[in-house]
Amino acid sequence: AGYAAIMLRSVILAAARSQKVERLVETAPVSRDVVKRFVAGSGTGEALDATRQLADAGLCITLDNLGEDTLTADQANATKQAYLELLAALGQAGLTAPKEGGGGVTVATAEVSLKLSALGQAFDEQLAEKNAREICEAAAALGTTVTLDMEDHTTTDSTLDILSRLRRDHPGTGAVLQAYLRRTEGDCRELATAGSRVRLCKGAYKEPEHVAYQAPLEVDKSYVRCMNILMAGEGYPMLATHDPRLIAIAQDRARWFDRSPDEFEFQMLYGIRPEEQTRLARAGHTVRVYVPYGTEWYGYLMRRLAERPANLAFFGRALISK
Ligand code: FDA
Repeated sequence: AGYAAIMLRSVILAAARSQKVERLVETAPVSRDVVKRFVAGSGTGEALDATRQLADAGLCITLDNLGEDTLTADQANATKQAYLELLAALGQAGLTAPKEGGGGVTVATAEVSLKLSALGQAFDEQLAEKNAREICEAAAALGTTVTLDMEDHTTTDSTLDILSRLRRDHPGTGAVLQAYLRRTEGDCRELATAGSRVRLCKGAYKEPEHVAYQAPLEVDKSYVRCMNILMAGEGYPMLATHDPRLIAIAQDRARWFDRSPDEFEFQMLYGIRPEEQTRLARAGHTVRVYVPYGTEWYGYLMRRLAERPANLAFFGRALISK
């Protein structure tokens, strides 16, 4: 079963890179319903509505304007503008103010997550950095933060370099580390310093054996080793997972390292285990929901399908019932 799951994941992740499959899925009549479950809408207004609802339920939010693999400076600029517009709207709605506590870092109700590839990283790293910096400045002016999503392993060094330069002026800028990469324990050690926000996730891309653990158990064990480093360190761990075993281990480590609920947070994706999100928040934890919105949902949706055969079955059922 483990092998079949690994195969299925790599077939779906390969489809995620295929333009033919992309056209097929995007034009399927069912796509809207399926997309709705994982994506909060296409524009700033809908993203704001979803954010308000989550905030009212006691959750924190990080918003992602969907899009990746940008190929032109104009596209990158449009993505940057979308973020600036979103931040202004969040600020006006009073959703960006930092909360009390925060264990030495800024913990705002709503912040944003960026993909550097959407800001031009693939063809002009300096442009991507300049765009990201403008977004960080706008976020800081409103009292909130930015987290740089992590993409495939060919971009890790570039993303961490840009992060360290952004952090000189905006120390609250968050990093994402992926437990499936063999290098990540080392990166956790580097980044587990005071004031450093680090999101730890399993990792969502198809990666070769020489850089990434392939077996789910190996990835989980790496996640626990990385979590131990972050929870023992001086930074602010953001534990991004829906995995009940890892969540239980995180709660155990918080007790062990004497971290109060404002000294780390859980993060989950919009539409995935929503009842668990509110349960943890009611139990006193900080829980941040990653809310993607926008029209370019294809790559994001395919990664969610690759993670979980049940999501695929949901997609299949929706297709058949149309
Ligand atoms: P996994 O998918 O292995 O699931 C483990 C268990 O969780 C399942 O066995 C089940 O018990 C439970 N579960 C999962 N989905 C469920 C569902 N729909 N219903 C019920 N139970 C379910 N990746 C990346 O490469 N770069 C990034 O920047 C980010 N950013 C990011 C932010 C946030 C907030 C999250 C939550 C995730 C990411 N990711 C990411 C994605 C991440 O790498 C990973 O692919 C997914 O989170 C899925 O991994 P899980 O840890 O949830 O475990």
